[in-house]
Amino acid sequence: MKIGIIVYSQTGNTFSVVEQLQKKLSKKGHNAYIERLKPLDPDKIKPGAENINYKETPDLAKYEGYIFAGPVHAFSISVGLQSYLNEIYSLDNKKTACLITKGLPFNWTGGNRALNQLIKLVKSKDGQYIAGGIVNWMNFKRQKDIEEVTAKISSSF
Ligand SMILES: Cc1cc2nc3c(=O)[nH]c(=O)nc-3n(C[C@H](O)[C@H](O)[C@H](O)COP(=O)(O)O)c2cc1C
Repeated sequence: MKIGIIVYSQTGNTFSVVEQLQKKLSKKGHNAYIERLKPLDPDKIKPGAENINYKETPDLAKYEGYIFAGPVHAFSISVGLQSYLNEIYSLDNKKTACLITKGLPFNWTGGNRALNQLIKLVKSKDGQYIAGGIVNWMNFKRQKDIEEVTAKISSSF
């Protein structure tokens, strides 16, 4: 399957996770492409910001499935990803997975909330939600989280 991994990553954590996810998907025979969202004005990416403009935006139509990934900012999904998803037209009932990274060690410090926001957004755009996961960056079992989340998502396509 041709899968688009659409990622917003401010400091590189989420990006490094989707690189591992891309490798897992390739091993399973998928063609996965990472598309990193780059805001024209990175200083605008602050909680509550709206109308973010990007250097370029992915052509979603060329993919058969999607993964949307981004960090938690202030207990919510980062506007760097949210603003992009707000503006898209439709995910055409294609299989869609969601991935969140966060700094604080437990899922209840913004991870669950951000993941639920992202899932809701995907469903509101007619995406067929299939799997999701959270990586806690400052948790001692970070690498285990990454293994589990990337395995779960890659096996769901
Ligand atoms: C403005 C800002 C707000 C943040 N708020 C939270 C938060 O509410 N909960 C949390 O667990 N981590 C929070 N973090 C930490 C990031 O979610 C975490 O470092 C994430 O892995 C960064 O991903 P990135 O490198 O892909 O941007 C915040 C980081 C920033 C910069």
